[in-house]
Amino acid sequence: MKKTKHQALCMLLLLGSLLQAEVTIEDKVSDLLDKMTLQEKIGQMIQRMPASGMNSEFIDLIKSGSVGSLLNAGTNNQWQLRNQFQHIAVEQSRLGIPLIYGRDVIHGYQTILPIPLGLSCTWNAELIEKGARMAAIEAAADGIHWTFAPMIDITRDPRWGRIAETCGEDPYLTSILGAAMVRGFQGEILTAADALVACAKHYVGYGAAEGGRDYNTTWIPERQLRDVFLPSFHAAVMAGVGTFMSAFNDINGVPASGNEFTLSQILRGEWKFDGFVVSDWASMHQMINHGFCQDEKEVAFKSVTAGVNMEMVGNAYERHLEQLIAEGKISEKLVDARVADILRIKYRKGLFDRPYNDGRGRDAILSSSHLQIAHQAAVQSAVLLKNDGILPLKKCRIALIGPLADSPFDQMGCWSGDGAVSAVVTPKAAFGERLGANLYYASGIKKSRDIGREGFAEALQAAAKADVIVLVLGEEQSLSGEAHSRAFINLPGAQNELAAALVETGKPMVVVIMAGRPLTFQNISEHADAVLYYFHPGTMGGPALADIIFGDVSPCGRLTVSFPRTVGQIPIYYAHKNTGRPPVPQSLGIPMGTPVDPREDTSKYMDVDYTPEYPFGYGLTYSSFVYENLRLSAPAMKIDGELIVTAEITNTGQFPATEVAQLYIRDLFGSVTRPVKELKGFQRINLNPGEKKRVTFVLKAHDLGFHGLDHHYVVEPGAFHVWIGWNAEQGLQGEFTVVE
Ligand code: BGC
Repeated sequence: MKKTKHQALCMLLLLGSLLQAEVTIEDKVSDLLDKMTLQEKIGQMIQRMPASGMNSEFIDLIKSGSVGSLLNAGTNNQWQLRNQFQHIAVEQSRLGIPLIYGRDVIHGYQTILPIPLGLSCTWNAELIEKGARMAAIEAAADGIHWTFAPMIDITRDPRWGRIAETCGEDPYLTSILGAAMVRGFQGEILTAADALVACAKHYVGYGAAEGGRDYNTTWIPERQLRDVFLPSFHAAVMAGVGTFMSAFNDINGVPASGNEFTLSQILRGEWKFDGFVVSDWASMHQMINHGFCQDEKEVAFKSVTAGVNMEMVGNAYERHLEQLIAEGKISEKLVDARVADILRIKYRKGLFDRPYNDGRGRDAILSSSHLQIAHQAAVQSAVLLKNDGILPLKKCRIALIGPLADSPFDQMGCWSGDGAVSAVVTPKAAFGERLGANLYYASGIKKSRDIGREGFAEALQAAAKADVIVLVLGEEQSLSGEAHSRAFINLPGAQNELAAALVETGKPMVVVIMAGRPLTFQNISEHADAVLYYFHPGTMGGPALADIIFGDVSPCGRLTVSFPRTVGQIPIYYAHKNTGRPPVPQSLGIPMGTPVDPREDTSKYMDVDYTPEYPFGYGLTYSSFVYENLRLSAPAMKIDGELIVTAEITNTGQFPATEVAQLYIRDLFGSVTRPVKELKGFQRINLNPGEKKRVTFVLKAHDLGFHGLDHHYVVEPGAFHVWIGWNAEQGLQGEFTVVE
């Protein structure tokens, strides 16, 4: 009894002190707000990009308190320039409110990790958190406070150039990996000098752009919004993300930067987010183009009322908020609330106590431990799609050919503006180190888009001298990323022709594809002895590739997006609905382009299989695994209970390898139709040859729900299937029921 009392007292004290800490920041925020003029408040809501270094006009703006944040502000290594701006804000503006510097630190800073889509193929949240930590340490040492990452948009469209920046098609996986990035960027203590404030973007639905064309319209019914597009953003809030970015797209007729439903009702109302929202680049002003606002004044009105705190690149807040208040269209209280969110994050980041960068921590940039993280991430991001047994290669004479075999800039992938090109190690450099005179290199084609065949002869000569061809194809950097959508997702330029010419030599051929998206390359994979999908692997892509090709490690990446056979299948994703006339396996194998008897009237294509070329979750290793003995702890679970699902996995091959065991469920009948499969868990396990391990998943009934007819989350009693599998199409199946 005594002990309980004591515990209660301690709890109270703890709670008291926690509350006090929070109250302190809130007190500081409201004290500061009390001192601010309306112009100074509006100044906090403006993010500007200094056109070029220091100029007197810009200095005056900072002095007058008309700048809350700077975007980019110098290139890398310009931490001193950032300090100069900060000195003006802190020492020469009336209230000395520090600036917050934002920048796109997406997949690394100077040390570049694989593009996020590649990173997600590691299915390794711990490693991804480490990678984000690494990026934060490097960027913070350069005077950056805030990164516009993670990008946690869900997309099911490889035409969309920004698929490169996503974690793929699945809301569950993106939630876990996105939260890991938030933790990595923000570190354990946000006030630490090496922590960056993270930004969950692009809120929301941006990845659903019609036709995969960037910035295009999105139509997302509320149920789908809540089941598919919102969970990763909610997970970011739960992980403590400091900021959000409102997207470019129009969602169901209301652009994201003027969307009261998503920005206020859901984000602040339902999720209790108390950080701030920055608009995406000029996305507020673009509401005029959308036809949602008549002029800039209406832009300011709709954005501020919907819930955007800070305008990135634009003048709507600067020019119109004051007048909107004067006209009684909005209250100063509303502006106070928007500014309070910004100040709260500035306090939480510790900018008032430590506004300047002292240049320390810069040794970490491109340090060997950072390069090692990039190396590990590149290894784990590689997905082996095909292997007739040629890999791993024994030491032999190799012809390394292709436009991506020695292209440091392209290898870094999109959004790597701060990346150190000189630090990139390409396959050519890495293979050269291992093979010396046994390496014969020829690009064949200089850039992925080139259509000339001038380089073919040299490539064929290299091939003639070698025992094996390693052909590194793909997309150059500029074919993916923002505003870089493609209507065709084949290998561009003369790459198919180059591959065909090399196939003619009859030499064994390993194809490596470095790209920003899933591509279609059936014709090549049919003839290649092995295909490794590498996305853009970053700084250490070369050495990591050598490790895999020569068998130092077994590849362990698994796809996080379904690969279509042809662009006409898009959107194609594993968690689709069943339809009333589901396709049947007999509809498989209809040869491309030769319509045959349609057999059944099912939901299929007449000219191509309805299935993906490679399913979500797919990836081979140098070993083989056998799954057996799926067990469920009970045939039923209570609606508030849980179930334990296990299976044994044995490494039946010759190599130590990592398996990614995946847990899927299907809710067989619902008050609304449910997907044929949904990922609910995964585990990476390392197994030596002959080793067997039991994987255990705890399935909580609460996680089996969805948003029902009334858009509220519901778990319905009834029958479920469950799988522990090795991709979204294959696994051991069991069943259970959920009971009231
Ligand atoms: C992109 C954002 C990015 C911002 C700042 C925009 O064009 O959509 O993702 O953070 O620019 O660079």
